[in-house]
Amino acid sequence: MPWTTSDIPDLTGKNAVVTGPTIGGIGYFIARGLLAAGARVVLAGRSWEKLDAASASLVEEVPGAQLDRVALDLSSLQAVRAGAEAIADATFEGGGPLHLLVNNAGVMATPQSRTVDDLDLQMATNHFGPFLLTGLLLEPLAESGEGRIVTMSSMMHKLARKAPLGFPTVQVGRYSPWGVYSQSKLANLLFTNELQRRLEKAGLPVTAYAAHPGLASTHLMANGASKNVIAPIASIGEAAVRAMAQTPEAGAWPALMASTYVELEPGTYVGPGDALEGRGAPKPVSATRLARDPEAARALWELSEQTTGIAYP
Ligand SMILES: NC(=O)c1ccc[n+]([C@@H]2O[C@H](COP(=O)([O-])OP(=O)(O)OC[C@H]3O[C@@H](n4cnc5c(N)ncnc54)[C@H](OP(=O)(O)O)[C@@H]3O)[C@@H](O)[C@H]2O)c1
Repeated sequence: MPWTTSDIPDLTGKNAVVTGPTIGGIGYFIARGLLAAGARVVLAGRSWEKLDAASASLVEEVPGAQLDRVALDLSSLQAVRAGAEAIADATFEGGGPLHLLVNNAGVMATPQSRTVDDLDLQMATNHFGPFLLTGLLLEPLAESGEGRIVTMSSMMHKLARKAPLGFPTVQVGRYSPWGVYSQSKLANLLFTNELQRRLEKAGLPVTAYAAHPGLASTHLMANGASKNVIAPIASIGEAAVRAMAQTPEAGAWPALMASTYVELEPGTYVGPGDALEGRGAPKPVSATRLARDPEAARALWELSEQTTGIAYP
C-alpha cells in the first residue's frame, strides 16, 4: 500500500525542528503535517517576518498547534551556532529532548556569492550550515532515545560528476550555479550516509534519512536560478516549472514519510513514487553510486568538520 499522510502516527509529546518553513515552500507543509499529528514544532527560518507569517497561518490551519520560532541563517556559521543555542536552551527548556530535525532549507543555483565565512553560498546554506546545526543538536536528539535526522536532497544530485571536495576555497574556472547546486545536493546524501554510519558506530539512539520532493512549485527558482537571467526569461522559466510541478504539499510527503515511518531502514532515501520520481506517493528510492561512495563521504565529512569547527562523536 502506498504511504499517505494518514500513516503518520500520533506525535503527541514529540519535539521537532523544521528549517525553511516559509509559506508556499515544502518546509511549511512538513511542519503542518507534523503539527497536525500532535508534534511540537520549532520553525527555524532566516526572516522573522516570514516566521511570523508561517506561524500565524499554521495556527489557523491546525487549531491548537504547538509551535515556536527561532531565527536561523544557515549561511553563517556564527548564526547557526546562535540558532542551535536558541533551539536547545529557550525552546526545549534547558536542553532537550529533541525527536526530529528536518534539514529542509536550501537555495538553488544562485549566482556565485561568498558568505561571511568566505564559503560558497550554496555549499554553505545547503551543506555546511546543516552539517553544523545537526552536530550541535545531536545531544538533545540522542536524549530523546529515538532521534531522527532527515535531510532534503534532490534528483539533481545525479548530475554531480564528483564529490564537492574542492570547497570551500578552491573554485577554478567559470562558476556553474547548477553544477554547484548538484554537488550541494550530492553532499546531502554523502552526509546522511556517513552520519548514519557514525551514529551506529557510536551507539547513539539517533538515525539519519534523506528525502527529495521530486519537482514542486515553490519559491526555489525565484530565490536562486532566476537571479542568473533577465526578468522575462525568469518568468518564463518559473511558469514552466509551475506547469510541470506538483504542489509543495505533495513535495513534503517524502520528508514526512522519512520523518515518521518507523519501518524505514536507517539511511533510507525517500522520494516520489512515479517512474521518474517527479511526483506521487513516496517510497524508498535509490541514489547514484557516487552518493553511496563511503570514501567520498568520509572525505567530505573531514572537510566539513574542518570548515565548520565541529567534531562529531
Ligand atoms: N521545489 C523543488 O522542486 C525541489 C526539488 C528538489 C529539491 N528541493 C529541495 O527542497 C528544499 C526546500 O525547497 P523549496 O522548494 O521549498 O524552496 P523554497 O520555497 O525557496 O524554500 C526554501 C526555504 O529555505 C530557506 N532558506 C534559504 N536560505 C536560507 C538560509 N541561509 N538560512 C535559513 N533558511 C534559508 C528559505 O527562506 P526564505 O523564505 O527566507 O528565503 C525557505 O524557507 C530545498 O532543500 C531544496 O533544495 C526542492
